[in-house]
Amino acid sequence: MTMQSISTEDRVVIFDTTLRDGEQCPGASMTLEEKLQVAELLDHMGVDVIEAGFPVASDGDFAAVREIARRARSAVICGLARADIPDIDRCAEAIEPAKRGRIHTFIATSPLHIKHKLRMEPHEVLEAVTASVRHARSYTDDVEWSCEDGTRSEIDFLCRCVEAAILAGATTINIPDTVGYATPDEYRRLFETVRSRVPNSDRAVFSVHCHDDLGLAVANSLAGIAGGARQVECTINGIGERAGNASLEEVVMAIRTRCDAMPYVTGIESTMLMHASQLVSAVTSFPVQYNKAIVGRNAFAHESGIHQDGMLKNAQTYEIMTPESVGVSKSTLVMGKHSGRRAFREKLKELGYTFDEGTLEESFRLFKDLADRKKVVKDSEIEAVVAMATFSA
Ligand code: KIV
Ligand code: ZN
Repeated sequence: MTMQSISTEDRVVIFDTTLRDGEQCPGASMTLEEKLQVAELLDHMGVDVIEAGFPVASDGDFAAVREIARRARSAVICGLARADIPDIDRCAEAIEPAKRGRIHTFIATSPLHIKHKLRMEPHEVLEAVTASVRHARSYTDDVEWSCEDGTRSEIDFLCRCVEAAILAGATTINIPDTVGYATPDEYRRLFETVRSRVPNSDRAVFSVHCHDDLGLAVANSLAGIAGGARQVECTINGIGERAGNASLEEVVMAIRTRCDAMPYVTGIESTMLMHASQLVSAVTSFPVQYNKAIVGRNAFAHESGIHQDGMLKNAQTYEIMTPESVGVSKSTLVMGKHSGRRAFREKLKELGYTFDEGTLEESFRLFKDLADRKKVVKDSEIEAVVAMATFSA
């Protein structure tokens, strides 16, 4: 895997919304203290923008955004606001202590949302875009505008809204796939089309925000980058509304591991990914699925004899990134019914045993017998098997 030369234009901004979109999913609410802990870690690991909450939603959200803004060291601290003056005022007050603060204001642009949810006319939406962005700009020169349900919006209307938002002062334009409906190819083309059709598009950074309803959030995010987006909105462990958002650790490691195919960089210290995953899982009480990419407990675990044999000869046979690169101390060879002699022998060595071939063979036979009845054989059980083999020898 060769590293191509990467220009600053290929720097992808990581916008973490664990504390806003992530916290919005049922059962994931966090206390102020927990949010401060998560924000500190995100800041430390190189997240560029932390969306710390939705200040108008509750006094608790307001207090959390304000305290995170006060404590942040290098990340931009962002608050979410609808396209309403009181929302934006409250958001501005919350981010006020930040060294660098951002207001993220949004309104839906799809016919479905405009008609049934907002009950507005399209021209009223367009006016609200200009008024909301302009108002947000009166507080900060870092304003992000999002077209909710962007991927189901009519392209002409979407382009007019994006142009109006940039004209009113938006510096980041986020086109969310709010309902996780887009395919990677469509999403990439959407960015290409909007960027080429909107005359002032070169004055803003474009951003992806993908939901995982069809399991495509990470693929869509990467496709959006290929289409010219340079900010990714994502969450630790992929938590978020319904099926969740694009997972930060997957986006970061996909870019890093496949930089030959995706020549971009992020500022994330990847060795902190496992710690971030465990912290978010602990504070939300959301378990991480065992086979979750990058941070699942099986992500660097091998059980089958063929794989264990390959791993013992050269880890690259079955691992495309090192466990250390994501903060896992080492790969594990799980001892189970699929394990072979080679891994068993290594396990005995690791446990401090040296044997003649006969005892080893008997130990292996007893181990296989036990493994057939159990999912995983623990070290203590291997020690018991060895004791039995030694006794019968
Ligand atoms: O999914 C979405 O559309 C959002 C916006 C508020 C950015 O979360
Ligand atoms: Zn969202």
